[in-house]
Amino acid sequence: MATPIKIAVLGGDGTGPEVVREGVKVLKVVAEQEKFQYTTKDFDYGGNRYLAAGGDPKKPTLEPITDAEIEELRQYDAIYLGAVGHPDVAPGILEKGLLLKMRFQLDQYINLRPVVLYPGVETPLKDKGPEHINFVVVRENTEDLYFGGGGFLRKGTPNEVATQEMIATRFGVERCLRWAFEYCRKRNKKKMLTLVAKTNVLTYAHDLWWRAFNEIGDADYPDIKRDYNHVDACCMWFVKNPEFYDTLVVPNMFGDIITDLGAMIQGGMGVAAGGNINPTGTSMFEPIGGSAPKYTGKNVINPLAAIGALAMLLQVLGDQKADAAIKRAGDRVEAAIAKACPKLDSMSAGRMGRGTREVGDLICELL
Ligand code: IPM
Ligand code: MN
Repeated sequence: MATPIKIAVLGGDGTGPEVVREGVKVLKVVAEQEKFQYTTKDFDYGGNRYLAAGGDPKKPTLEPITDAEIEELRQYDAIYLGAVGHPDVAPGILEKGLLLKMRFQLDQYINLRPVVLYPGVETPLKDKGPEHINFVVVRENTEDLYFGGGGFLRKGTPNEVATQEMIATRFGVERCLRWAFEYCRKRNKKKMLTLVAKTNVLTYAHDLWWRAFNEIGDADYPDIKRDYNHVDACCMWFVKNPEFYDTLVVPNMFGDIITDLGAMIQGGMGVAAGGNINPTGTSMFEPIGGSAPKYTGKNVINPLAAIGALAMLLQVLGDQKADAAIKRAGDRVEAAIAKACPKLDSMSAGRMGRGTREVGDLICELL
């Protein structure tokens, strides 16, 4: 028998722990059905731990996660994450010190964010249905404005200067583009890959993206149609003609922005899931939404995004380990989510007609 897969569970802040709890419940059911073994271990990284350890709420005086703790996570097959963000901890401390640190140090260079409207889910787009909204955004996850370069000069004075730098490396861009081309080929729909950037203004960094996109496409992916959108136009098309898209590839910061728009057209943060993927290492899966502090402990947050993240975890691990049972488990969880959606009155917090736990139970029943 195969060795059990090892999953690190990081519930995180706010409503994170209660939504991943539902995912873990679903995992138990589907693992029994598909007969694969797994272990989970809970970790308490997040704002509460940071504050309890004496971290300053205003500036990073402690590491929310240390290098050694990240090395421990590297021993796991996957990380299942709830949410990062605490109302009493200043913006940036946990985001940079925990979430981005894990993404960077575990080299999870792909952020995979499908935008799928399930039947029965309401989209704010007029006259659009599930047949129109079904595409995948591949967001580069380690470079661009996110690498953290920059600084202050004369901080706090009237002559203050602040810089924030954007990088694009040929290596980083190329590995992301190749992954996206491969993904688009495997997805086997329109076989069209749209690069989203801003080549008319970011004439260095995005020129590199543009050249790499065309060179790699010409050399190795003649079967994939190449398409290009400026990021502003892309936002317009997401709303006007989402059915046009198949697979998109986008630098980190624009990817962050367009995937929130994507999440809204697929019915909101309650259903949007994402994966931070290192194709040869430890990947991390999370609902795209935040920690929703004001809803914490109220049993009102939709866990479908977290359960969708679990489905993706199983699908990616199943592929990585060439384990058909795990892959099938992921596909079945995704199918159960699609079946559950028409049964929920609304997808937004507090208006689902069922609570967080009850939606988790429904998925287990549908399995
Ligand atoms: C996301 C989030 C993060 C990001 C924040 C919390 C650092 O918005 O996962 O999209 O910008 O990547
Ligand atoms: Mn975001």
